[in-house]
Amino acid sequence: MIRFLKSSLFVLGVTGLGVASAPLHAQDDVKIGFIVKKPEQAWFINEQDAASALGEQKGFEVVRLAGEDGQQVLSAIDNLNSQGAQGFVICPPDVRLGPAIANRAKQYGMKVVTVDDQFLGADGKPMASVPHLGMSGYKIGQQVGETIAKEMKARGWDPQSVAALRISNNELPTAKERTDGATDALLDAGFVEDNIFDAPQQNTDTSSAFAAASPVLSKNGRFEHWVIFALNEESVLGGVRASEQYGLSPDQVIGVGINGSGAAFAEFSREKPTGFYGTIAVSSTMHGRQSADNLYTWITEDKEPPANTETTGTLMTRDNWQQVREDLGL
Ligand code: GLA
Repeated sequence: MIRFLKSSLFVLGVTGLGVASAPLHAQDDVKIGFIVKKPEQAWFINEQDAASALGEQKGFEVVRLAGEDGQQVLSAIDNLNSQGAQGFVICPPDVRLGPAIANRAKQYGMKVVTVDDQFLGADGKPMASVPHLGMSGYKIGQQVGETIAKEMKARGWDPQSVAALRISNNELPTAKERTDGATDALLDAGFVEDNIFDAPQQNTDTSSAFAAASPVLSKNGRFEHWVIFALNEESVLGGVRASEQYGLSPDQVIGVGINGSGAAFAEFSREKPTGFYGTIAVSSTMHGRQSADNLYTWITEDKEPPANTETTGTLMTRDNWQQVREDLGL
């Protein structure tokens, strides 16, 4: 409605009132930020690319920013405000920053939506007042567990000889949901509970996962086979690299990730298979595009986005990754 009004005013401006320079045409006026916690990760690069592409298509500007810690996020918001942005999409570096970020946005009259990692309020519960779009963590985690269980069976592994390296990040709710889903699916399939070992990572990237995984592998050298899971494929890759360094061969390891981004494509493109068996691919293109579109519609039509959108995933392996990539528009 506002968009329509603004465009009509613009038309009026040029044709009738001789005030063509007045900034009335909505499309050129809209500027949004897209702030991500890990700007170097393929998942987030793709989200920002998809948001920028939508902006080009619809005629609004997307400012891509890094927010790797609280300080950087707050200066990114200040920066956006000085550029005249009306709002931003954010995947925060720490979900507990939610109230501080929402506050800063409010001071500037900016709209905010979260993508991937949902803000937590002071009460530790998800901040329902900020619209969110993210993975259906538990279900996608279950897909990880089911995939691992099936592959263990296909390889004829005796459950007693198999350990699980659960690279965990329990401070991030979506991470916990994902690893809980995977754990439950494995237990349902008969995995031995005592053979599951936690490797808590400090962050959500490959190096923090590698650092967390190495000591767990060395401490439990009696196991012949390992399965590896985590909140994302970058972390599973850290676990797989640690298993290689420890001396395990690819046929002793089943790692299954989540994301389906450049990190997985690079792994599947290697000449020989590694312990990284597969990943549950989710469309980062859709996440970036849809969250930006939700915000744009909110700014231009005053239509608040759905409180919570949950997305689903598809198994991607060395055998089908190119097809799944194409299907998901990645
Ligand atoms: C978290 C993870 C990312 C990605 C997104 C997807 O932010 O850190 O790697 O999995 O969730 O929602």
